[in-house]
Amino acid sequence: MKVGVPTEIKTDEYRVALTPAGVRELREHGHDVVVQAGAGDGSAISDDQYRAQGAEILPDAEAVFGEAELIVKVKEPQPGEVAMLEPRHTLFTYLHLAPDADLTRGLVESGATCVAYETVEDARGRLPLLAPMSEVAGKIATQAGAFMLEKPLGGRGILLGGVPGVASAKVMVIGGGVVGMNAAFIAIGMEAEVYVYDRNIDRLRELDIYFAGRASTCYASTLEIEQRLPEVDLVIGAVLVHGAKAPYVIRRNQLKHMKRGAVLVDVSIDQGGCFETSRPTTHSDPTFEVDGVTHYCVANMPGAVPITSTFALTNATLPYVLHVADAGVLEAARQNPGLAAGVNVVDGKVSYRPVAEATGQPYTELFDALGEGAAA
Ligand SMILES: NC(=O)c1ccc[n+]([C@@H]2O[C@H](COP(=O)([O-])OP(=O)(O)OC[C@H]3O[C@@H](n4cnc5c(N)ncnc54)[C@H](O)[C@@H]3O)[C@@H](O)[C@H]2O)c1
Repeated sequence: MKVGVPTEIKTDEYRVALTPAGVRELREHGHDVVVQAGAGDGSAISDDQYRAQGAEILPDAEAVFGEAELIVKVKEPQPGEVAMLEPRHTLFTYLHLAPDADLTRGLVESGATCVAYETVEDARGRLPLLAPMSEVAGKIATQAGAFMLEKPLGGRGILLGGVPGVASAKVMVIGGGVVGMNAAFIAIGMEAEVYVYDRNIDRLRELDIYFAGRASTCYASTLEIEQRLPEVDLVIGAVLVHGAKAPYVIRRNQLKHMKRGAVLVDVSIDQGGCFETSRPTTHSDPTFEVDGVTHYCVANMPGAVPITSTFALTNATLPYVLHVADAGVLEAARQNPGLAAGVNVVDGKVSYRPVAEATGQPYTELFDALGEGAAA
């Protein structure tokens, strides 16, 4: 199979979907790899490093989409990329379709098979291709929040860890999954007072053991969240209902309970945002203010640290890329039900239920969409 790697074009995105190590593995499996010139620049990977492992460098995205059957990317396709997709293509990337009806429609109309990293599952129902970027985003969330609390940036002017004789800031993390746990660990490391909220009691039990008394775990009822809001300096939103649009955990009318200059970091913004007042921002212009509260809502947080993120992402994606290249996407999906859960769009139909429900598209079960009945 011919595998194509275009340069990422989303604003402030510096990751790339395949490293030279990935090119080497694909070549050893007998596949051809085409990489757009400069695709690795943002991650400090040169064209020559790709060439040295057997990739062909092509001048532009049109050439990559024109030659490759399997397109591997990082972020959801931008309009110009959607326009280049055809039924012969398999697109393997983050898609985050639930909050984006227009993109969903574009992919349906393209006829391409579109596999979302963020809905691929492992044998335990976890999200192996989201997890590495959630680890990065969780760590950035606390760093960014601490920075935005500085007075010259519009924050309250409080240091997360305090100093001897002056109390630490209070950090509330809502959603104690991969993002939330990593955000909490950095906040603990910075010596803040940390509260982590979740609705899954088994998860709270696990976190309680991991934190070993260095953070409090709390049940995420609307009332308990609201009662904590007047005390906290930084809130990190990190909830996820797999593949679905994020639920709101803080409404606009609750901002009045917060301190002026407090900071909300909405990591769930890629699934539509978990604060009612959130809207996507970019690294170049990351924040806005509503009712005296700073909102940080960057939808591609790991893109800011590509030298970490590219390698963390591709370590996780490469085995799946190899499987799809070796077997073809539909046979690979038949062999691995976790990969089948990643197929969001196939043959002009939405084959992932939460995306169909959120975007108003009809849902068709993957193998029914292919006219094959249930998976073998
Ligand atoms: N902005 C970015 O750059 C970026 C990067 C990586 C991940 N993300 C996003 O961060 C979000 C979290 O990802 P994750 O990997 O940590 O997911 P996860 O599945 O590991 O964790 C989500 C947690 O949210 C909890 N939850 C669900 N609904 C809740 C509610 N109403 N109240 C409280 N808790 C609730 C779940 O029980 C779970 O523990 C996702 O939307 C993901 O796409 C964003």
